[in-house]
Amino acid sequence: MIKHMKKALAVTTVVAGLGMLAVGCGSSGSSNPADNSGGSNTAQTKTYNVGSDASYAPFEYVDSNKNIVGFDIDVLKAIAKAEGFNVKFNNTAWDGIFLSLDQGTNDMLISAITITDERKQKMDFSDPYFEATQMIAYKKGSNLTTLDALKGHKVAVQNGTTGDDIVGKAFGKDSPNIKRFDAMPLALQELANGGVDAAVGDNGVVVNYVKNNGGDKFDTAIDPNFPKEYYGIAVKKGNSDLLNKINDGLKKIKADGTYDSIYKQWFGDKK
Ligand code: ARG
Repeated sequence: MIKHMKKALAVTTVVAGLGMLAVGCGSSGSSNPADNSGGSNTAQTKTYNVGSDASYAPFEYVDSNKNIVGFDIDVLKAIAKAEGFNVKFNNTAWDGIFLSLDQGTNDMLISAITITDERKQKMDFSDPYFEATQMIAYKKGSNLTTLDALKGHKVAVQNGTTGDDIVGKAFGKDSPNIKRFDAMPLALQELANGGVDAAVGDNGVVVNYVKNNGGDKFDTAIDPNFPKEYYGIAVKKGNSDLLNKINDGLKKIKADGTYDSIYKQWFGDKK
């Protein structure tokens, strides 16, 4: 249905041999036989490896059928479909996820990654596709609603995230009150177990956790000083070819309403 928007990007496409499928391709050189190419895997369609730390519901997580699913996954699949490439999602631990770009095991990363100046020095980011902020989850009644209030309390974060950064700056990076975990569910679990007084992480993930794991036990708060964060899709520094495709696809899915319907599916009507 969005065939008309596809761009002739597949320079390596072999039109010969596609026979009937090449009908209507004109002289563009682009065959793109499968309109739903986001999910197809023909020899003509390039497949990119995508790293994602799939322990971050609702952005990326492993469902009961062992599939990697989530908002990010749907967004990238839609971009891939709009641009005529395939994606293969690789569940990649957060620790080392950025290294996987340089090592070439992943061509791109979508993992609720906040675009930061520091990261921008090491990799390139797409245009922002989602706005987020940090959020505090704390035991009901404890009133730990700001970073200041958290001082002197034990706080769990996911190691190497913007949440870790913010708490680290407030407490001092080496503060014994920061408990760092490799995955966000472990940090939130620690709060549930009473090992910490609060956990700090991305709002969407914290809200989702509290909703599904005892909204009666926890409250959430956003310190008004927490900055806005913007998620981007990361590629290896200098890979402008791929970055252009991603940005082009993102524009298309925003323009044609696909992005909005994915957003609605995962987050409802807020926005
Ligand atoms: N947005 C935060 C950051 O970029 C946390 C992202 C963690 N993502 C994940 N899939 N574990 O630092």
